[in-house]
Amino acid sequence: GKPSLILGIETSCDETSAAVIRDGHEVLSNIISSQVEIHQKFGGVVPEVASRRHVKNITFVMEEALEKAGVELDDLSAVAVTYGPGLVGALLVGVAAGKAVAYAKSIPLIGVHHIAGHIYANFLAGGMEPPLVALVVSGGHTELIYMAEHGKFQFLGRTRDDAAGEAYDKVARSMGLPYPGGPVIDKLAHEGNPNAILFPRAWLEEGSLDFSFSGLKSAVINALHNAEQRGEKLEPADVAAGFQESVVDVLVEKTVLAVRQTGVSNVVVAGGVAANRGLRTKLQERAAKEGFTAMCPPLSLCTDNAAMIAAAAYPFYEKGWFHNLDLNAHASLPL
Ligand code: KG4
Ligand code: ZN
Repeated sequence: GKPSLILGIETSCDETSAAVIRDGHEVLSNIISSQVEIHQKFGGVVPEVASRRHVKNITFVMEEALEKAGVELDDLSAVAVTYGPGLVGALLVGVAAGKAVAYAKSIPLIGVHHIAGHIYANFLAGGMEPPLVALVVSGGHTELIYMAEHGKFQFLGRTRDDAAGEAYDKVARSMGLPYPGGPVIDKLAHEGNPNAILFPRAWLEEGSLDFSFSGLKSAVINALHNAEQRGEKLEPADVAAGFQESVVDVLVEKTVLAVRQTGVSNVVVAGGVAANRGLRTKLQERAAKEGFTAMCPPLSLCTDNAAMIAAAAYPFYEKGWFHNLDLNAHASLPL
């Protein structure tokens, strides 16, 4: 039949993004307007500022996505929008925009869970099929998820305190590095010695697939503080390398455990921290040894974007599972 064209919209945090994808996997456009420079001044995302920026940007970003794809509003088959979890004021902007398009053009509206979007970034890259285990690591999430089939998700474990990306951002801040801290620490870590300073790893109970990063975060902050009190300064690259080694160790070993527990042979990584070079390298090494396949999205699809949202909507589009125009935004939302 006719190819499907889905407009995706993502405004859950500090990126205003719109994308058009064809038949669930072909990215015709993926426009991302980042507010990162604005939030850098505050050392993190300020919700009220983010919402106002989304209002300012959303129509331009949607227009650009359509134009770049060479698609008219009338050509669209459906509109997909992130409706949670995230900053509720930020989400509302995208939800309102999505509803307006769906109503004006009488096309289906599909609300998408942000984490499902991150997982589906891997299907845009092509290749992998469920059953699989997804490691979702971002500024707000650290989760291991079992995906038996398309659109079906089951939590295996999650963080009990800080998310991995959050730990990166907080450690970076305590080292006087800019926001977002992940990419900066990742780069610095490659110039440092991971064994110079040993930081703790929180394995939790035997067999647990949960995570905890707040102890590690405090250990880094204490080490910096104690050195300062002694009138010394720790080598930033060594701090970054030691911290990263500890995060990556735990993420990779728990993923291996999840693979053993579920018996799957495919792993996908999702979320902003999936861009981490240390994580990508170590996971590939362990996967080769354990005999499973691990896949990370291309760097450009790791952080928040609308193409992944449109991709996650596609199985629902095919099944005819749509939302009504009373769709609301939710700060927290079960997967
Ligand atoms: O998925 P994302 O764009 O937004 C959320 O939904 O949270 O993830 C952003 C997070 C930030 O905490 C950022 O520091 C982290 O991903 N991040 C990284 C890297 N690139 C981004 N963390 C570690 N290494 C990286 N290379
Ligand atoms: Zn995200």
